[in-house]
Amino acid sequence: MKWPGAVTIKEVGPRDGLQNETTFIATEDKIAWINQLSRTGLTSIEITSFVNPKWIPALADAVEVAKRIERVPGVTYAALVPNRKGLERALEADIDETAVFMSASETHNRKNINKSIDETFPVLREVAEDSLAAGKSVRGYVSTVFGCPYEGPVAIDAVVRVADALFEMGVGELSLGDTIGVATPKQVAEVLDVLLKRFPAEKLAMHFHDTRGTAMANVLVALDMGITVFDASLGGLGGCPYAPGASGNLATDDLLYMLDGMGVKTGIDRDRLLAAARFIQEKVGRPLPSHNLQATGVGSCATGTGA
Ligand code: HMG
Ligand code: MG
Repeated sequence: MKWPGAVTIKEVGPRDGLQNETTFIATEDKIAWINQLSRTGLTSIEITSFVNPKWIPALADAVEVAKRIERVPGVTYAALVPNRKGLERALEADIDETAVFMSASETHNRKNINKSIDETFPVLREVAEDSLAAGKSVRGYVSTVFGCPYEGPVAIDAVVRVADALFEMGVGELSLGDTIGVATPKQVAEVLDVLLKRFPAEKLAMHFHDTRGTAMANVLVALDMGITVFDASLGGLGGCPYAPGASGNLATDDLLYMLDGMGVKTGIDRDRLLAAARFIQEKVGRPLPSHNLQATGVGSCATGTGA
C-alpha cells in the first residue's frame, strides 16, 4: 500500500455538521467555532450554506456568519450554493468559494433540491459561471455516489454523467459523496478506477460519512489510489436532512490521528483541533461520536451529559 506525503483535509462541520442539528446553534457560537477552526492549520472550511432557510433552518444565519467571522489569510472559506438566489447571498457575504451540489440518483436529487437531475444542470451552470466571473473558485459535489437512500445502488454511469457535467461547467474540484455512509473499500476502488481514467486524481476529493463504520477504511483505499483531498467534520457531526439514515461525517479528529500516525502531513494542530471539538460539543449539548473525543475522555467529561 502507498500513500502521499501530504493531504488536504477540508473541514465541513460548520455546514454538513450543523445543517443536521435540531437545536439552533447561536450565531455567536458558530462564529466563535469557525474562528477557532481557522487557527488550527486547516486551509479550507465550509462555513455555511446559502440554501433556502426554510429547508435548512439551522443555517438560516448564513450571511451574518460569513460576514462576521475573522478571515485568516491562507484559509479558504467555502459555502454551499444551490441557485442564483443563493449566489446573490454568497456574494453579498463575500464567500471565497462556492460549492454547487447535486446527486447521481434522481430521487435524492429531487428530495434534496426539488428538481430533476436534468433541471438542475442549467441552474448550477449559472452559479458556476457567475461565481467564476466574480473571481470565486467553484467546487462541485456529487452525492449518492455509493448508494441512494431511496433507490439503493447507483450505477457508475449515473455518477460519470453528473461528474462530466459538473467539470464541464467549470468546477475546479469534485467531491464524491457517500451521502448515507454505505460505501465499502472494494466499491471505492471500483468507482475510483472508473473516474480516475477520466479525471486527474488532484481534481477529485472524497466525502465519506461514517454511518456504518467504513469511512476510514475507504479513506485508505482512496489514499492508495492517489486521492489527496478529504472532507471531514470535526467530532463526526453531520448528515443530510434529506437523506434518511445519513449520520455523521468521517470525523476530522479521527482522520487527523490516523494521518499523523502514518506520517502524512496535513498542517493541522491536533490540540487546537480537539479544543475546537470540545467547544462545539458543549454547544451541541451531547457527546459527539468521534473516537478521539471519546478516547481523550472529552466525550463524557466536558459536557457533563455522560458518555
Ligand atoms: P425551491 O423551494 O424549489 O426554490 O428550493 P424556488 O426556486 O421554487 O423558490 C421558493 C422560495 O425559496 C422563494 O421564496 C425563493 O426566493 C426562496 P418566496 O418567493 O416563496 O418567498 N429561495 C431561497 N431563499 C434563500 N436562499 C436560496 C433560495 N432559493 C430559493 N438559495 C432549493 C430549491 C435548492 C433552494 C431548496 O431545495 C434547498 O434549499 N435545498 C437545500 C437542501 C440542502 O441544503 N440539503 C443538504 C445539503 S446537500 C448534502 O448534505 C450532501 C453533501 O454533504 C455531500 C454528500 O454527503 O453526499 C453536500
Ligand atoms: Mg455530506
